[in-house]
Amino acid sequence: MKVIKNICCIGAGYVGGPTMTMIAAKCPHIEVNVVDINSERIAAWNDINVDNIPIYEPGLSELVAETRGRNLFFSTDVDKAIQAADMIFISVNTPTKTYGVGKGMAADLKYIELCARQIAAVATTDKIIVEKSTLPVRTAEALKRILDNTGNGVNYEILSNPEFLAEGTAVSDLLNPDRVLIGGEETESGRLAQQALVDVYANWVPKDRILTTNVWSSELSKLTANAFLAQRVSSINAISELCEVTEADVDEVARAIGADSRIGSKFLKASVGFGGSCFQKDILNLVYIAQSYGLHEVADYWEQVIIMNDHQKRRFAKKIVETLFNTVSGKKIVILGWAFKKDTNDTRESAAIYVVDYLLSEQAEIIIYDPKVSAERIFSDLEYLNTRTNKENRELVTVVENPMLAFADSHAAVVLTEWDEFKSYDWKQIYAAMLKPAFLFDGRMLLNHNQLVDIGFQTFTIGKGQ
Ligand code: NAD
Ligand code: UDX
Repeated sequence: MKVIKNICCIGAGYVGGPTMTMIAAKCPHIEVNVVDINSERIAAWNDINVDNIPIYEPGLSELVAETRGRNLFFSTDVDKAIQAADMIFISVNTPTKTYGVGKGMAADLKYIELCARQIAAVATTDKIIVEKSTLPVRTAEALKRILDNTGNGVNYEILSNPEFLAEGTAVSDLLNPDRVLIGGEETESGRLAQQALVDVYANWVPKDRILTTNVWSSELSKLTANAFLAQRVSSINAISELCEVTEADVDEVARAIGADSRIGSKFLKASVGFGGSCFQKDILNLVYIAQSYGLHEVADYWEQVIIMNDHQKRRFAKKIVETLFNTVSGKKIVILGWAFKKDTNDTRESAAIYVVDYLLSEQAEIIIYDPKVSAERIFSDLEYLNTRTNKENRELVTVVENPMLAFADSHAAVVLTEWDEFKSYDWKQIYAAMLKPAFLFDGRMLLNHNQLVDIGFQTFTIGKGQ
């Protein structure tokens, strides 16, 4: 039996940070070192004021305050943490490749390989390596070959332990997961390694929720879970478009089908399109893997989920332009929400980026408010698209800290993230400040549209006939 006393996690991002904080909180007997090459990020994790940690998640700063300096440490000294660890989690980013073979589809594994090579170069004692990042099926094989061929002759066991937390609810997801999945090699030493990780989670997760499988099933389950979840959103979004032309109401349809226990009620909220760093990237990766095995029908089936999502974002933006008398040039449009969902400051692949880019191409004047996203982040998201120069983006876009000051003389308000605070705004006051007719586009079905119509707004909501 192997007892884990020291854990290293490479990658202090949205997964590494919260996951390791929970392990440290629930396993005070284990020292947890989270390391990253990004020194700014590490400095933010170590900020004296825990409210300045780099990731906003409800409940996270309190947990960091409890554990940091006790058995949780953040550092840029990757080698030292590798040396000291019994178990090393790799939690680095695996973005879609932007170059070469598989460009725009395959996962870029260069950061994973760099970690493996660094571990091999540094480690002088046996290690259990845990794939925490989301990886293509059979990555463990490549990791093992790198470690075994470039290492110092020490023994490595590789486990797959994908993370299923969702942003905005990371702390409660980690505290009370539906399941923890641990894939290991079907050998004696593989089973011992698997058990060592089961024992870590068993400090707070009921044993019947800790699933063990072979490595390949575990790796593939992560891509599959995200594909199924995203597919539900694209499915209900496809129906939302049909609702808009038939006067069916997508919320009512979702409630009706969700009451069927075989379908279930979760993940049936129609929206302006899913965002986030995972869904698109992981489906593209699944499509690429299927293609590379020659499984073209399988690839096409899953690709449709992305095609539908792109369509949903575009048609929402198009609807705004059409409704505003087919031109938004020079018109002031207020955007409420930039994060890809509420309760996070993460904006990766947020639908807001694409909707605003479309409106900017139509020369709209855009004012953006998000309670947790900085102006710097918003401009860098727009710049990354490369649709126009940064100077042009800055001429057309203003980011405000007080949304109430944004609405004066605006033609339209557009809700793109479902932040709760938008519901409590004084919409009468907002209406009074706007030009008439005052339009409101709700990409999240968030607001009470009967009330808004009573105030005088012309409203459009996803999935409802007008
Ligand atoms: P992230 O970009 O927030 O964090 C990754 C971190 O790894 C960065 O801070 C980066 O500097 C660091 N890093 C990269 N290479 C390094 C190296 N060689 N040495 C040290 N540090 C290095 O990414 P994330 O959102 O935390 O995602 C990490 C992985 O987890 C991805 O594979 C992702 O698909 C998966 N995942 C993410 C989520 C999520 O909600 N974000 C959920 C489940 C799984
Ligand atoms: C997702 C998975 O849920 C999680 O298990 C995995 O570990 C990482 O990827 P995340 O992307 O953080 O998590 O958030 P999620 O709640 O899944 O939302 C993803 C996107 O789908 C968001 O833009 C959200 O607004 C959208 N969504 C979700 C809908 O539009 N409708 C829904 O019913 C659910």
